[in-house]
This record gives sequence, C-alpha cells and structure tokens, in this order.
Amino acid sequence: MNSPRVLIVFFSFSSQTRNLLQGLSKGLREYDIQVEWQQLKPLQALQFPPGSYLATVKMMLTTFFRKRLAIEELSPDCFQNWDLIIVAGPTWSYHPSGPILSLLDRDGERLVKDQLVLPFISCRGYWRMHHWGLRRLLRSKGARVLCPVVFAHPVAEPWRTIGVFLKLAGKVPESGKSWFHRFYPKYGHSSLQINDAKAIGLIIGKYMQKGKSLQELSFPAPVPVD
Ligand SMILES: Cc1cc2nc3c(=O)[nH]c(=O)nc-3n(C[C@H](O)[C@H](O)[C@H](O)COP(=O)(O)O)c2cc1C
Repeated sequence: MNSPRVLIVFFSFSSQTRNLLQGLSKGLREYDIQVEWQQLKPLQALQFPPGSYLATVKMMLTTFFRKRLAIEELSPDCFQNWDLIIVAGPTWSYHPSGPILSLLDRDGERLVKDQLVLPFISCRGYWRMHHWGLRRLLRSKGARVLCPVVFAHPVAEPWRTIGVFLKLAGKVPESGKSWFHRFYPKYGHSSLQINDAKAIGLIIGKYMQKGKSLQELSFPAPVPVD
C-alpha cells in the first residue's frame, strides 16, 4: 500500500514557521508519511530584519492593508491530489502574510480545490483574524479546511510585542547584555514548541496511517506552552 502523502506549502520570513514545520514533519515521517515541501519565494527578495524603525512601521502598515507580495511559480508537482495540504506561514498585522495572499489569489483554486487543508500559523500572539481570513479564503477556493494548528511566541506581554518590534527594527532585544533579556530571553518559538509540533505531526501521522478522518482532530489554539 502507498504511504499517505502530505504537501507543505509555506512562507517563513524569520524561520519561525520553518522551524516548527521541521518538527511537525519529523513526527509525520515517523509514521511513514511522505512529505513534500513547497517554499513560497517572493519575486523581490525580502530582507529580515527590515532593519530600521521606519522600515518596520512601513511594513506593518502595508501588511495591515493585506498588501500582496508576488511569488515565484510553484513546482508543477504541487498541483495533484494530496492526502493533506498544509498551508503555513506567519501572521502579519492580523492577516496572512503577503506571499500566502498572493498564492491564494493566483493558484488557490488550482492548488486546494476539493483538497483537505490544514492551516498552520506561527505568530507572536494575535492569530484569530488571520485564521478567520485564511479559512474564508481557502473555503472560497474550494478547500475542505481543518481546525488550525497555531503556535504563539512563549513570552508574556508586553515584552513579546516590544521584542518583535525591536527585532524587526534590527535590534537584538534578547541579548544577554540588555536588561530587557530578563523579560525577553529569545525571539520566536522555543525548542519545546518544536517538540510540540513534532508531537502534533505524530498524531496526524497516526491518524493518516490508520485511515482515520483528520476532520475529527482539533488542537488547542494556540498550542499551550509547556
Ligand atoms: C510585518 C509583521 C507583522 C506582524 N504582525 C503580527 C500580528 O499582527 N500578530 C502576531 O501575533 N504576530 C505578528 N507578527 C509576528 C510574526 O507573526 C511572528 O514573529 C512569527 O513567528 C514569524 O514567523 P516566520 O519567521 O515564519 O515569518 C508580525 C511580524 C511581521 C514581520
């Protein structure tokens, strides 16, 4: 019997989504799930971090208005039937990121129509509007949308918001040299969360191998921090 096949379509600006997905795919592969990757690459290379306060505010404003970021063509191999497609990326100003919006505008119907799709979100903490918008877009393209997997940065407010802003502006807020480090030890997700992503991959893999419906699955959102 052929192994179930999963396509992961993702965008990641500062590697946080990518790190979580690597955990998730480890879990999937332990159940012999075939995993294929499609990274979304903006036509105009994006620099992380934007590197100044002005560039950061500009990016936050344009993304709030859901500016699309044109992307390279997907591999033709993406356009086939999958047992599951994972559409993954960060929250940008309460919305899906520009490359994901471009993907759905241009290829959405061809990619996800009649397919089972798992939305996967990496964010600092505010993901609900992103999730609603993404779900609406996926459904409008004909996808059968599963409950999302959401990871938030495991640092309390207001530090995580200030920390992300400083990071985007090119500072190093997590630096051990700064007093801020006490409240903000790390940018992004922890290694425990990457393990949690693997645990979710194991559950999904087990369901797929047993032929159980993934529609029965729902994970607490955001995934609780250990
Ligand atoms: C322009 C911009 C806007 C953002 N807006 C939000 C937001 O509205 N809510 C949130 O929780 N995180 C927000 N973030 C933080 C990212 O979602 C978070 O850092 C995520 O882990 C990044 O994932 P990535 O490295 O895969 O791109 C924003 C980040 C950027 C660059």
